[in-house]
Amino acid sequence: MLLAHFLRDRCKLTGTHIGCETSLCGACTVLLDGQAVKSCTVLALQADGAEVTTIEGLATNGQLHPVQEGFWECHGLQCGYCTPGMILAGVQLLQRNPNPTREQIAHGLEGNLCRCTGYSHIIDAVEFAAKRMAQSNANASAKPSSPKPAEGKKKAKAK
Ligand code: FES
Ligand code: FES
Repeated sequence: MLLAHFLRDRCKLTGTHIGCETSLCGACTVLLDGQAVKSCTVLALQADGAEVTTIEGLATNGQLHPVQEGFWECHGLQCGYCTPGMILAGVQLLQRNPNPTREQIAHGLEGNLCRCTGYSHIIDAVEFAAKRMAQSNANASAKPSSPKPAEGKKKAKAK
């Protein structure tokens, strides 16, 4: 049994889509121990004991992952068929290169096909996510500002 079929049919995680079943389209992309894989090319048995992240598991406590946010904000989808795979491929891309150029994003997503968008908004979405992630990393590493010294009282002027 293929991992894609196991996820959809046994686990009922139908966010993982199946397009070509020949490793060409990327619709079935999931993260296997953090690495993007096309789940139509992996046996379910090969994933035994590994951590599999599908699109259903990407948000945290109801908070969208920045790449998901990017697709929302930048209209990175039309029919949505390619979207779960695109997003998971985008997550891996930003893990490997947190500040990619548009060309690097296009190159990083070239294993994922989209028949609707013309790709431009998808690249916008990943750029958005890169900026959002850089911003939250900067906020997290910013040192807490030291309290301002109390302002001295003004001396009362003698009349
Ligand atoms: Fe797996 Fe197309 S369905 S790559
Ligand atoms: Fe339709 Fe990509 S949004 S295939």
